[in-house]
Amino acid sequence: MSITTHRILGDHRGQLVAIEGQQDVPFEVKRVFYIYGTQPDVPRGQHSHHQTRQYLIAVNGSCKVTLDDGKQKVTYDLNQPNIGLLQDALIWGSMHDFTPDCVLLVLASEHYDEADYIRDYEDFLKETKNANQ
Ligand code: TYD
Repeated sequence: MSITTHRILGDHRGQLVAIEGQQDVPFEVKRVFYIYGTQPDVPRGQHSHHQTRQYLIAVNGSCKVTLDDGKQKVTYDLNQPNIGLLQDALIWGSMHDFTPDCVLLVLASEHYDEADYIRDYEDFLKETKNANQ
């Protein structure tokens, strides 16, 4: 889990942020999805993945992301379009407190596969314990 502030390539025409797979994010990007039109009081995510690593950027508006490794929870404020948050595999993630204009862009290391999801928190805790043995 790590948060990175990316360089803004701005000039008189406006701002630009570039994020390269295997350079700025520690994996090859196989999938991109984005979340918008969210409700301020309705969290999303609330699951973990066996393999998939994700990189989250609020490219517009802001939201909070709570990452949980099974022992410790840390809440990050994604409130700038040049801030990226790495969510590793076997980390439980919850996205919440979306502003109405929030567009949350997610870069993912794997193609979509429902079998890669861990949606039950008790199963997640069991799996993190097994992984740490
Ligand atoms: P879901 O995992 O519930 O979203 P969140 O992470 O915000 O809780 O995904 C919503 C729906 O979209 C669900 O039917 C699965 C589908 N989906 C895809 O088809 N491809 C994807 O890359 C993602 C992330 C979701």
